[in-house]
Amino acid sequence: MAKGLFQSPKGVRDILPEDQVYWRRVEDAIRKIVDLYGYERLDLPVFEDTGLFRRGVGEATDIVEKEMYTFKDKGDKSITLRPEFTAGVMRSFIQNSMDQLPKPTKLYNIGQVFRYERPQAGRFRQFYQFNVEALGEVDPALDFEIMSMAYHLYDELGFENLSFQINSIGCPHCRPGFHEQLTSYYKQRFNDICTDCQTRLDKNPLRLLDCKREQCQPIIEVAPSMADCLCDECRDHFKTLRRYLDDAGRLYTVNHRMVRGLDYYTKTVFEVWAQGIGAQNAVCGGGRYDGLSEILGGKPMPGIGFAAGIDRIVMSLQAQDHLKLSRPAPQAFFVTQGAGAKEQAVRLIIELRNAGISAMLAFGDRSFKAQFKEADKRRTRFTIVIGEGELEGQYVTVKNMSESSQENVPWSELVEYIGK
Ligand code: HAM
Repeated sequence: MAKGLFQSPKGVRDILPEDQVYWRRVEDAIRKIVDLYGYERLDLPVFEDTGLFRRGVGEATDIVEKEMYTFKDKGDKSITLRPEFTAGVMRSFIQNSMDQLPKPTKLYNIGQVFRYERPQAGRFRQFYQFNVEALGEVDPALDFEIMSMAYHLYDELGFENLSFQINSIGCPHCRPGFHEQLTSYYKQRFNDICTDCQTRLDKNPLRLLDCKREQCQPIIEVAPSMADCLCDECRDHFKTLRRYLDDAGRLYTVNHRMVRGLDYYTKTVFEVWAQGIGAQNAVCGGGRYDGLSEILGGKPMPGIGFAAGIDRIVMSLQAQDHLKLSRPAPQAFFVTQGAGAKEQAVRLIIELRNAGISAMLAFGDRSFKAQFKEADKRRTRFTIVIGEGELEGQYVTVKNMSESSQENVPWSELVEYIGK
């Protein structure tokens, strides 16, 4: 078929009917997990004031520097399509005085987010996140709960060989000391690092550890580690979290080089990696952001959360044979000949649907052969035939498509027959 005059823009895509069974599977799992852990849904606008993300996510992050969809609206106001949820959740929490709610306030979001990134496998410019935030509590047991939720989601979906990467990136008390060590280490190697890292050195030294360029890897390998600079509070917090993880038998790797790409993080950061979407791609990432509320003009309000990329979860499910799902098919598909037969089929379809059984009709006036072809394509379990004989005898011929058998069933017994 001709492709038409327009294609979807680069990096965005349609989620086609054949993929929807996976999306539904993920949404069902999400619903189960949020209920189990007691999180409530918060829907946020798709666009916000640009300043919210500049301040919240951080001026020197890739997201703010390179990836935001920002435009002026007709009132000359700078607007940005949300590149993530956390800053918006905090904005809403402050604006709606949610500090009156029991703490931690447990919230989740599902929806599209937008980042102008270079498209590649598992990386899109519009993608979907399941985002979770718990606000108002510093207890490391809450960090463990948030990580458990992420784990539980993937477990529920049947993922195996999940790996957690965790790190502590300190707080405003201990991080400046680490910045100093890191900066002086990198200054001595200035000519050996990539040009991006030369810029990061001034702007965002933590991100030096996150560089993916080959030439910077040996330098990252022996760079100073945040672990050696953590203050007592951060060290204890991290130790307690690890104790909870060990106790629950969760597998994790402490990755001292993992810093994550958003500036609001303090203390705990983590990611989940899964199979089937390329080695570079995390299915989930999160962490603590105890200073974000104040950055956005609120009172001190610690928080922790994560976001899982639903597109990547779906890709990973599709890439694992044992997690493949088949597209839903109708239980019953009616083929008929003649006006009277079709009218009877319509009556029976109403009965079946009322009994919770999915049923479809072959529309139009087509030969039996053409109607059977459609039944095949729709992968129905039963093809139900009403021709002249059936109409006269008040029965239907039910063909069981997988067993290639058939049986005559009186109209009055059809619901029971199909439903059994
Ligand atoms: P993030 O790591 O930037 O964190 O994104 C979370 C997840 O979104 C990633 O692990 C990945 O699965 C998915 N993702 C990110 N970029 C893309 C893309 N271009 N295409 C497809 N999927 C993508 C955050 O957004 C934080 N707000 C998470 C958080 C919540 N931290 C605390 N609370």
